[in-house]
Amino acid sequence: MGPLPAAADLPLVLEPLREDLERVGGRYAEILSDVGAESRDLVEQAARFTGKRLRPALTCLAARAAGGGVNDDVLTVAAVVELIHTATLVHDDILDGAEVRRQVATLNARFGEQAAVLAGDVLFSKAYRAAAWLADPFASRYLSDVVGEVLEGEIFQDLVARSADLDESSYRRIIRGKTAALYEAALHVGAHYAGAPLSMASMLGAYGHHLGMAFQIVDDRLDLTGREAEVGKTLGRDLGEGKTTLPVILWREGLPEARRPEALERIRRAWSDAQEARALCRDLEASGALARADQAAQREVEQARAALAGLSAGPERTQLEQIADYILSRTR
Ligand code: IPE
Ligand code: IPE
Ligand code: MG
Ligand code: MG
Ligand code: MG
Repeated sequence: MGPLPAAADLPLVLEPLREDLERVGGRYAEILSDVGAESRDLVEQAARFTGKRLRPALTCLAARAAGGGVNDDVLTVAAVVELIHTATLVHDDILDGAEVRRQVATLNARFGEQAAVLAGDVLFSKAYRAAAWLADPFASRYLSDVVGEVLEGEIFQDLVARSADLDESSYRRIIRGKTAALYEAALHVGAHYAGAPLSMASMLGAYGHHLGMAFQIVDDRLDLTGREAEVGKTLGRDLGEGKTTLPVILWREGLPEARRPEALERIRRAWSDAQEARALCRDLEASGALARADQAAQREVEQARAALAGLSAGPERTQLEQIADYILSRTR
């Protein structure tokens, strides 16, 4: 593997963690350093273009908040969490038929779907191996369960795709699995490997859970209204793939009973008709449904902040609070 790029376009809120993230980047490259010649091009494509690095930043911050600091094991689990995240993105882009990720071509677009499936598997295998070599088996045991939860979220999402009448509790079940579980884990493992007791790791994990819920609600809003050039990935696929997300659910439920059948028809038409999809997006905005989805994300952020009540005041707690607020205003 060639050297990883410097953490150039880090979100401002993660600047204080730049040094930690550069060390995590080094560990990430080490973990991938022995990929076979056959998969090197593929894995480099996935690893060279870094994202926002929120999850490994949170792992390091949890370790600092827990008092133990960013030791060698924390670096490894932070890199493992980011590898797992990247592997799920590689597979997600196949499932979603996405062409752009982190401002460049997806693996499926560049090398084809079959190669991308295998590249995602290589990343998972490297992540599991790195975790397995830690003296404390906690990460291996816990993260393998978490990957199971992510997959269950994705599978459930697929099972209920093209349900115009999807309800909010099913939507929440999907995002809890596919996104919030890994955010929760990112903090929990960071605190654990910094030597924190279970109560502290769970408290930080609870913050991560709510942060992850808010993160995906915002992501789903960006899929409807974001600018692809800024977000850096293919957008608009949720509606096109029949994925009913929170703004659509809140819009449909906000209509008087008599107009619901017509709303279901409009949602179904938006799955295959781009013009209908654009018209629906305008109505989501005009009806206040987008704003209500933002409020739901805001409530998750408030719960994330509330989960930190037991943490003593200090720079780490302030940074965790700032990251929670950043999640709401992010544009990429
Ligand atoms: C994208 O996550 C996947 C979701 C859970 C929506 P990020 O937005 O954190 O992706 P990168 O790592 O910054 O590219
Ligand atoms: C999150 O869902 C996927 C994973 C947790 C892997 P999305 O499908 O919305 O993620 P993006 O928008 O492609 O990043
Ligand atoms: Mg996707
Ligand atoms: Mg997806
Ligand atoms: Mg999305």
